[in-house]
Amino acid sequence: MSRLLIKNAKALVGTYPVGVARVAGAEMARLPMIEDGWLLAEEGRITALGPMSEFPGVADWSDLTMIDASGRYVLPGWCDPHTHTVFAAPREEEFVDKIKGLSYQEIAARGGGILNSAMKLRAMDEEALFDQAKARLEGMMRMGTVAVEIKSGYGLTLESELKMLRVAKRLKASLPLQVRTTLLAAHALPPEFKEDRDGYVRLICEELIPQVAQEGLADFVDAFCEVNYFTVAEMERVLEAGAKHGLPGKVHVNQFTSLGGIQAAIRHGALSVDHLEVMDVADLEALAACPPDQVPMPTLLPSCSFFLRIPYAPARQLIDRGLPVVLASDHNPGSTPSGNLNLVLSLACIQLRMLPKEAIAALTMNAAAAMGLHHEAGSLTPGKRASLIITHAAPSLAYLPYAFGTDHIDTVIIDGKPIRTGAALR
Ligand code: NIG
Ligand code: FE
Repeated sequence: MSRLLIKNAKALVGTYPVGVARVAGAEMARLPMIEDGWLLAEEGRITALGPMSEFPGVADWSDLTMIDASGRYVLPGWCDPHTHTVFAAPREEEFVDKIKGLSYQEIAARGGGILNSAMKLRAMDEEALFDQAKARLEGMMRMGTVAVEIKSGYGLTLESELKMLRVAKRLKASLPLQVRTTLLAAHALPPEFKEDRDGYVRLICEELIPQVAQEGLADFVDAFCEVNYFTVAEMERVLEAGAKHGLPGKVHVNQFTSLGGIQAAIRHGALSVDHLEVMDVADLEALAACPPDQVPMPTLLPSCSFFLRIPYAPARQLIDRGLPVVLASDHNPGSTPSGNLNLVLSLACIQLRMLPKEAIAALTMNAAAAMGLHHEAGSLTPGKRASLIITHAAPSLAYLPYAFGTDHIDTVIIDGKPIRTGAALR
């Protein structure tokens, strides 16, 4: 039996008791920790933990890897419940256009944006897409990400959307991190359907969703509800078809415009509402009025705001209204060419004014819940996967987001096995 014992951790962070599904409002700042802690993992799962003062000792040393984590924090690995990590090519030419003053919408209107990515992805074979995405995900794992959601949405034809999801499925089988997948065919209207919006939404609802559900290619459905993309009514059709096939919604709403997408997502029992850069009082009130265990989880993407120079989501107002705020990267070639959740942690504190403990809860427990993985990931809890980050020695937990842009990670462990080995393991 393979076992891993971590001793003398400066603190074990996020030691939620068994059964916590998500944390909301004021609870987010009460991140549970055990100072001077030990943790035992067996066969890839956390089996026991506690303070060193109650360490029972080791009777059997066979097949045991021992880590002395003196001075270091041990955290649950980051979870990233919103990415578009399968794509064919970066779009740094648009980045330069943005520096010169063009907006995201102006670039899209000139043939850039999502349609630009779609044309390139359609032309690329599965093998090349897989190799590229695998390299990106390996980089993200080294930065502490242990579970990720991956969306389609750069195919925009039946064949290419299926191709993207098949690539994601292969990634899931070939990498140690956990992968959840989302059908985002309603990402942009493809040129072939320019004069037939209804026909494209019917293709999604009547052909793609049933086939994706039948082949087990996706766990969720998504739609980009925005001016020039999809209307609230079109998103609702996607959510309805998803629900009929057992695929809950995780939707792009309120990135540039408040259209009523949040209220529609609530009506359809969506798991998460993502972006939320533009929120009016009615949007906040609609979320606050939901029963706590049914509210779609507000998922904020501060590195997208940073990169596009658009407003930051109102994290404080969401937390003050008792909501379970989630953070994610939104890694994609157009609005967020970074999958680094350590940067998201700093941006959440600096720009969203989240407390370090709130931001850590949002990137672990709540991020796991926002892709239905709260039983498996997101906290240091017996029974969950032993997927962890061991930091360099740090003076305090707040130091991690404070010293932004610094690599604080020494070792990353997924399912009890090191995938990045630092000094703690030597
Ligand atoms: O989440 N907003 C829509 N989709 C992506 C961006 C996609 C792109 O520009 O390629 C996002 O920001
Ligand atoms: Fe996105």
